[in-house]
Amino acid sequence: MMGELGYMGIMVPEKWCGAGMDTISYSLIIEEISRIDAAAGVIVSVNNSLVCQIFVNYGNDFQNETYLKGLAKGELLGSFSLSEPQSGSDASNLKTIAVKDGSHYILNGTKNWVTNGINSDLVIVMAMTDKSKGYKGISAFIIPKDLDGILLGNKEDKLGIRSSDTCEIHFDNCRVPIENLISDEGEGYRIALTSIDGGRIGIASQALGIAQAALDKSKSYAKERKQFGRSIADFGAIQEKIASMGTNIEASRLLIHNAALLKDMHKRFTKEAAMAKSFASQTAMDAATDCVQIFGGYGYMQDYGVERLMRDAKITQIYEGTTEIQKMVIARELLEN
Ligand code: CAA
Repeated sequence: MMGELGYMGIMVPEKWCGAGMDTISYSLIIEEISRIDAAAGVIVSVNNSLVCQIFVNYGNDFQNETYLKGLAKGELLGSFSLSEPQSGSDASNLKTIAVKDGSHYILNGTKNWVTNGINSDLVIVMAMTDKSKGYKGISAFIIPKDLDGILLGNKEDKLGIRSSDTCEIHFDNCRVPIENLISDEGEGYRIALTSIDGGRIGIASQALGIAQAALDKSKSYAKERKQFGRSIADFGAIQEKIASMGTNIEASRLLIHNAALLKDMHKRFTKEAAMAKSFASQTAMDAATDCVQIFGGYGYMQDYGVERLMRDAKITQIYEGTTEIQKMVIARELLEN
């Protein structure tokens, strides 16, 4: 269904069976999906930002014909794998290695926190082809999941976004054809970081959808719930929460659309994406927490779906770069320019 609607390849050119839309459209779609289901939001966001966009920006015709068309149509699902047990924020500290052996690379190592890792058909993997070069020795590979030498870990038991699967992936002498190298050896870190910049617009939009859902639910419950003979929406303490939610949601939306616009204009947007993600994810967390507070005891129960917003919001402050990393990126750019 998502594929038929064009949601799996939103920014992919029509030539490669995508919807050919821009980043603002992408943001609006992720926001609206996440307003109902943030887990679906991240599944779609990763397939778009961290998989399809890598093909669009760095894939060759053979790779795009073989994989991108199916990904954009929703016939294939993609995942992206940079993180490892010892390498999260310190993203270039990779132990997974890829050694060239004739017409193949042989991959060994362990990746973790792979969103869509279980259900995807292929995974884009960052691995060291030359450890001595540090981040300049990282390369990106397209790894179809049906290759030999791939072992999937269990589905992680997460706090939120529980219908989106996350797992470890182990590579044990996995032989990957050389035509599955994306771009050139040593380009992997740049490919990963530029793509994650775009991904941060997606996660910011996911956070915005969660925050908007919290506001929608808070408004209707506050008007309906009566205490002391009147609806709780009449109380200043509740109004203060609703006003803050609304203002921060509007500010998040403007930050996100600003980053998306810069990206569509082919201008640098690293700082703006980091601002959008850190602000929108804080907004989601605050709005969801206030929403539970407005619902009181009912909010704490699973029946109302409000505690789920709080659990889902938390991850937006962690994946695709923690809030601390976003602040580091923002500060670096402000201090350098
Ligand atoms: N775009 C392109 N290149 C970039 C870049 C960017 N945003 N940021 C840095 N680079 C380049 C630098 O220019 C430099 O290259 P040159 O030497 O050629 O100029 C190179 O990368 C190294 O730069 P730094 O020394 O600044 O890099 P660093 O190793 O100190 O790290 C960092 C910078 C910003 C902290 C980065 O490591 C980072 O973003 N960490 C967080 C990782 C992250 O977001 N992980 C998310 C995983 S994906 C995920 O979460 C998906 C999911 O599940 C939903």
